[in-house]
Amino acid sequence: MRAIDEHTITDAVLHQMAATANPRLKQIMDAAVRHLHAFAREVDLTPEEWLEGVRFLTAVGQMCSPIRQEFILLSDTLGLSALINTLHDKRVAELQTTKSSLLGPFYRQDAPMLPLGSSIAGSPGDQEIAIYGRVMNAEGQGIPGALVQIWQCNEEGAYDLQLHDPSVMDLRACFRADSEGRYYLRSVRPLGYLIPMDGPVGDLIRAQKRHGYRPAHIHFLIGAPAYRELVTALYLAQDDHIDSDTVFGVDQSLITETRVNDPASPFPNLPSVHFDFVLGTAGAGSGRVGSDPSQITTSAVLPAA
Ligand code: BEZ
Ligand code: FE
Repeated sequence: MRAIDEHTITDAVLHQMAATANPRLKQIMDAAVRHLHAFAREVDLTPEEWLEGVRFLTAVGQMCSPIRQEFILLSDTLGLSALINTLHDKRVAELQTTKSSLLGPFYRQDAPMLPLGSSIAGSPGDQEIAIYGRVMNAEGQGIPGALVQIWQCNEEGAYDLQLHDPSVMDLRACFRADSEGRYYLRSVRPLGYLIPMDGPVGDLIRAQKRHGYRPAHIHFLIGAPAYRELVTALYLAQDDHIDSDTVFGVDQSLITETRVNDPASPFPNLPSVHFDFVLGTAGAGSGRVGSDPSQITTSAVLPAA
């Protein structure tokens, strides 16, 4: 029997897991155990502190519901989601495709399909904007019929899920790009907002003296057969938090300006955001670091034995 001490324990665990049949599961769990043990050794973790960690993770799980995903929020605020996005972007074959950004906790599948040019805002508000551009491949050719899903908060920084019953969908929709890959629609200017702060992740953010804000942005999820799905967001310049996003989603290439009197805009009388998205060709894996929260709670239920 080998002696278990603070150094031999790691190898003992790896030894017991050595027969794991799935090689990727083995690689992931081996690394997770090595890094977790190294973390505990580095900070000389006490039983009380680990119990506090277990309490925190329990509270994170208890906060999750079909309309709230606190674990994704935790991953986002620790920069893990943004890191996974950068690793995903590195696996694309082409240079110069549009960068990924966070899916976030407010994505919902089944948003209504609207004709090009429609407004996604239930009430137009006083800051109407146009959003337009093309969905293209890396050669600059438009991708006809690309599916463009868009969602955002309102002019006060709130998503529909935070204001209404989940049966109400506002400021979110799907569009089909035209035969040249063009998309165009109307919306309202989103405001930067505080991430959900009423749960354990908010408590941690306050303890760390972080401001908790995201700069104003508009989310996109864009797909087409034979192309790599793109999860991204456009960030509006001149936001106080553009350089200090709480969830690290901003990339310089995703910062846009609204332009007034843009002659190329399908709505030249509205301030317009113009952005052309470039998709890579199909590769392994989805770019969604997140999900419609209702899908995670559903799939977490194990089938009866
Ligand atoms: C969002 O942009 O919807 C979001 C992303 C991460 C955390 C909170 C909100
Ligand atoms: Fe958002």
